[in-house]
Amino acid sequence: MSSALSCLTPAYPTNTRRPFRPNISVRSSSRVSVPVLHHHHDHPFVPEVVEAVDSLYSEFRAVDNLVARNTARILKAYQNARVGSHHFGGCTGYGHDEAGGREALDKAFAEIFGAESAIVRSQFFSGTHAITCALFAFLRPGDELLAVAGAPYDTLEEVIGIRGSNELGSLKDFGVIYREIPLAVDGGLDWDALVDALKPQTKCALIQRSCGYSWRRSLSVNDIGRAIKMIKMQNPNCLVMVDNCYGEFVESIEPSMVGADLIAGSLIKNPGGTIAPCGGYVAGREKWVKAAAARLSAPGLGIDCGSTPGNIMRSFFQGLFLSPQMVGEAIKGGFLIAEVMASKGYKVQPLPRVPRHDTVQVGWFVCIFGFFSPNSNIFLYKMQLQNDTIIGSYCLDFTFLTNYPNCCSMGGVSRDGKGHGYPKLMVPFVCLLNFYAGLPQFIKFLHPTKK
Ligand SMILES: Cc1ncc(COP(=O)(O)O)c(C=O)c1O
Repeated sequence: MSSALSCLTPAYPTNTRRPFRPNISVRSSSRVSVPVLHHHHDHPFVPEVVEAVDSLYSEFRAVDNLVARNTARILKAYQNARVGSHHFGGCTGYGHDEAGGREALDKAFAEIFGAESAIVRSQFFSGTHAITCALFAFLRPGDELLAVAGAPYDTLEEVIGIRGSNELGSLKDFGVIYREIPLAVDGGLDWDALVDALKPQTKCALIQRSCGYSWRRSLSVNDIGRAIKMIKMQNPNCLVMVDNCYGEFVESIEPSMVGADLIAGSLIKNPGGTIAPCGGYVAGREKWVKAAAARLSAPGLGIDCGSTPGNIMRSFFQGLFLSPQMVGEAIKGGFLIAEVMASKGYKVQPLPRVPRHDTVQVGWFVCIFGFFSPNSNIFLYKMQLQNDTIIGSYCLDFTFLTNYPNCCSMGGVSRDGKGHGYPKLMVPFVCLLNFYAGLPQFIKFLHPTKK
């Protein structure tokens, strides 16, 4: 099976005993007292969640297999790059006296992603920045950029020049032409349109793996591979750049393994494993990684320049190693949220139990009549989420009073609001749940308690 959960194969036996029974052990020589769950009320989860967790047994097991596969790949890559504690030290200034940490991390990262080369740096502000460096590496005046998977993520509109970047140096400012192939009606790639989509000036095709914050399907790596083949058949010199944000480790293969010339993403999402405090990466063919590095720094400085102050290297190595586990939690959270919310009548995307291709779960809250509509649980949800969040639980969430009608909740890591141009109050609101560590919050939402 080629899906995200292609790991639904035998390593784990299928459990046919559905009902959950807490494993109660009363005889122990340990001095540590372990609470024994006697009554239904003692269960840490509310009944809807218990039921959903039980019914998702095989999906969760498949995720465990996925985590094991990806972690094994990282382990091997760390061993091959001879990662040692001396690589955690970091450096200041030009970074010339760095003890090889950047090199080891780049090497391991490249191997993990099946790429020729990689650059992983704190100096990438975010995913948008890394993607921008990759696009500027490929494109020159007169070239065309073709977005293959519909409109790109919001922040790229300014990078490309679709939305006013007011001569700040967008691709458009530099004479790069832009075109996009809208998604097909089913929300996937429009294969018919892609067959002969390229023009002689099409220098770069951009493929966005994740739905981002839109109501669309995310792409499987196999679909990305198929698209790349179709692009290269039309013109082998057309370069393919994949926006890999939110997709890393959701499958056991990555777009750089199926022909992408470059992939780019953010360490404050999946591959930072919730540990990396900042940074991003570009990986792919060596020539183009070097060109992207020259956009990050300056032509001629090379990829071995730049400081890595403080404990940054340690957190990068640690976060990358833990990333498959964090991604696994996010996928399980997505399955659980979809299951419970769909059972309560909410519209969700992806649908319950369908294979995942990123760590985003979208729930659709209809709010036609304003904040106090009986359906406007989004606001209760947001309040509850803020109340139960790890950092900033003492704050009140007023994002619904701003220009950001949509709420993106990244449980336990960070939270953010992004507008999608919906007029407030008159159209549905979208709440995106990206749960790396957010399950307790979701569970509380279903069963709010006062602090
Ligand atoms: C698909 C996709 N691409 C790019 C980005 C931009 O990443 P960043 O916010 O780190 O700049 C995002 C952000 O959520 C995204 O979802």
